[in-house]
Parts: sequence; structure tokens; C-alpha cells
Amino acid sequence: MARRLVICNRKGGTGKTSVAVNLAGELAVRGQKVLLVDLDPQSHCAAGVGLHTISPFVHDLFHQPDADFSASIRRTAVNGLWLSAADPAFDHSQASRAEFPLPQTLISSGADELFDTIVMDTPPSLDPLLLNALVAADSVIVPFVPHQLSMLGVRQLVKLLYDIKSSRNPALSLTGFLPTLANPTIRHHRQVMSELAHHFGAGRLLPAIRNDIRIAEAFSQGRPVRLTAPNSRGAEDFRQLADAITGVQVAESLPA
Ligand SMILES: Nc1ncnc2c1ncn2[C@@H]1O[C@H](COP(=O)(O)OP(=O)(O)OP(=O)(O)O)[C@@H](O)[C@H]1O
Ligand SMILES: [Mg+2]
Repeated sequence: MARRLVICNRKGGTGKTSVAVNLAGELAVRGQKVLLVDLDPQSHCAAGVGLHTISPFVHDLFHQPDADFSASIRRTAVNGLWLSAADPAFDHSQASRAEFPLPQTLISSGADELFDTIVMDTPPSLDPLLLNALVAADSVIVPFVPHQLSMLGVRQLVKLLYDIKSSRNPALSLTGFLPTLANPTIRHHRQVMSELAHHFGAGRLLPAIRNDIRIAEAFSQGRPVRLTAPNSRGAEDFRQLADAITGVQVAESLPA
């Protein structure tokens, strides 16, 4: 059975897609079979792994009764990494809040058996696409920029995780909060990270992804930073992150 990891934060621009692509790439380079599922119609994951956004898409599941999820899975430029791409024309209102096709599809399509890890990138909104990912997942990573406003968003998100865990997916566990675009020399960044560690427990704070232009540049080359700039700070940070999430046990419970 695959580890099913969702990368989410309702706040925009927190580095979700960069984390999804680069963590998936790092795990694939380590020999895992990884499926990246892009649930965000912005459709940026495809650019990150060197593919065009062509049909079929993962979003077909949300408006076509006979959608074939397996057909949406395509090999990428990275060995061991596959993508189920997002539909850039998908309108969020096409998905129903009452329907959850994704969790069952990951099983019935065989993806859950075929892959070691399924990484789901999600849109920056509370909509059926994010809810489907949370119901399908067993682990959650919450990338956040260490600014004060992010703390508010993180608290709201934790409440949502609790709601999903108690109503629909008891297997859901928080792997951790991931500081992104972080600069340890900025005092406000350090303060917000320590506030978060104090509030939720130091064990919930994953090793930060620092601000590194190589991470942004990698998207123009269609490969994860591990391959475009293996000696960069960004590549090193994704190695540390992969070590942390593959080495540690998934947290048993959500924080209080
Ligand atoms: N660690 C980093 N260092 C430098 N630039 C970064 C880093 N992480 C992300 N970026 C850049 O910041 C911008 C936002 O990142 P990204 O698209 O990954 O965020 P997102 O949370 O997926 O956004 P959205 O909410 O719109 O989906 C992008 O231009 C990306 O290239
Ligand atoms: Mg994104």
C-alpha cells in the first residue's frame, strides 16, 4: 500500500507545488516509485516535471462518470516519477462537496498498490478538491511561510484536519508543518517558527526549505532541483526533508 501524502495550505503561495514536485522528485531519485497527483487547476506540477498539460486529467474524475484515472498517469522526465496532471480548464464549481471519488479511485485503479508514495498537490482554497485529497491521504504536510499571518491560517487548517479525521478519515495523520521560503537570518522568521513549535510541539516542525532561487529556476527546466542543481541549498533542504519524513514515524495523532 502506498503512503498517501497531501501537501496543503488554504493560503496561497506557501510553496505547496514546489514542495510537492521536489519532494516527489527526491523520493523518486532514492528509488521509490512515486505518483504526483496535481489537484490544483493552476496545473503547475506538469511544468515542474517537464510535461505538457494534455488530457486525460485527474479532474475528469470530478465531472465524468466514466473517467479512467489510470489513463491520466504519465511517465515524467524523472526516472521513477509519474504524474496525473491537472486540468487547467477545470472550474472548482464542477466538483461536488458531497462526493469523494478520489479515495476509492486510488484503490480501484491499482495506484495504491503500484506506487510507494502518492504525493497530492492541492489548490489554495477550501473546496472539494482539497477535501478529496484529505479523505484519500494518510499523511499531511503543511508548507507555510514563517510570517505572522501564516500562523492564523495554520490554526484554521488544523481545525479542518480534525474535522476530516473525525468525520471521514480516521487514518489521517499530520506529518508536520514545513517552513518554506525561510530565511533563518530574519528574526521574524525565527520567531514565527519557534511560536509554532511552542504551540504544536517541536516535533511537528519539519526541517525548513530555505529561500533558494534554484528552486524557482528548476520549474523552467522541467525537473526537480535535485537534478537541475544537485549541490544547491534547495536540493540539500529537500534531502533533509525526505530523510525526516522517511525516517520518522508518522505522528499518531493531531496536535491539541
Ligand atoms: N524555497 C523557495 N525558494 C525560492 N522560491 C520559491 C521557494 N518555494 C517556492 N518558491 C517560489 O514561490 C512562488 C510560489 O511557490 P509555489 O507555486 O510552489 O506555491 P504554492 O503554495 O503552490 O502556490 P499556490 O497557492 O498558488 O498554489 C513560486 O514562484 C515558486 O517558484
Ligand atoms: Mg500550487
